[in-house]
Amino acid sequence: MTDGIRLSEFRLDDGTRDLLGKEIAERVAATELDSDADEAILATIGAHALGNLLPGQVLHELEIFSVAGAHALILGNLPRQDFPDTPVHGYGDETGLAVINALHFGLLQLLGATPFAVSYENDGRLIRNVVPNPAASGITSSWGADSEFFWHSDQPHLPFGEPGTDPRLYVPHYLSFYAVRNDERVPTELTAVDGVAEALDEHTRTLLQRPEFAVGVPASNDMDGSVRELAPARLLETAPDGRLRARYDRGTTRGVTEEGATALAAFSESLTGAGSRELVLNAGDFMIFDNTRVLHRRKAFSPLPDAGARWLRRIYAS
Ligand SMILES: [Fe+2]
Repeated sequence: MTDGIRLSEFRLDDGTRDLLGKEIAERVAATELDSDADEAILATIGAHALGNLLPGQVLHELEIFSVAGAHALILGNLPRQDFPDTPVHGYGDETGLAVINALHFGLLQLLGATPFAVSYENDGRLIRNVVPNPAASGITSSWGADSEFFWHSDQPHLPFGEPGTDPRLYVPHYLSFYAVRNDERVPTELTAVDGVAEALDEHTRTLLQRPEFAVGVPASNDMDGSVRELAPARLLETAPDGRLRARYDRGTTRGVTEEGATALAAFSESLTGAGSRELVLNAGDFMIFDNTRVLHRRKAFSPLPDAGARWLRRIYAS
């Protein structure tokens, strides 16, 4: 079955990668830059170097990504640096990662996206270390490994935002990742919302677009009394650009009417057999996908010993 994913994919040649790494390393070596306090400076350094050195076609694709309708974009073979052990307990020294942070924030700037954090997750920090945290064993969390994620969108209990608003109040439009290491070769799986919807019958599709659902806070979020469930909510809706978008997390979404519950069950059932694109990020790869038009999941995996365990860096952006 087709996954319906439209992916823009590019890979830097080694020469460009090395020049880019050298230029950014020189600029950040003269200073100390934290990924929260100095985000704007890191973005400026990264975007400047990327603007100078990326091929014109790649720059163009980054510029048009948010309007062109691709579901995801991968830019492979970016510079790496000397990496410390994987911070399996969640946080590590950010100033030592200034080269890759400049790249990540710089790419988001070129994509026209604003990075942000939500206060009730990840200690309010911009960059989430997606690592197999032993404390998250058995929990479905980006800090887990042994639990499988079912298809979902991130922060589905928030309303959809419009351009020119505070992104922290709304569903993250994009999830972006830089892969530090993924020697386990664990894929991130994507499936397109429009493809899933097309496979449903007309009646179910119509019901899913009615406000007959309640969507709660996923269990992986740190609890906070100010964050509640969104209800009544539509599971599917047409965005202002005419494209279909979804909010969904099987564990926290329920129908508030009998018809809604039936439609939700059909949607979940249809996802079980949905086609998916398995994207394995290698060290130095960047990926961004549209969290409103794509559902994602990750299967359970066995991490390597802590120091070399899978380590992705995730930033929300809108
Ligand atoms: Fe997720």
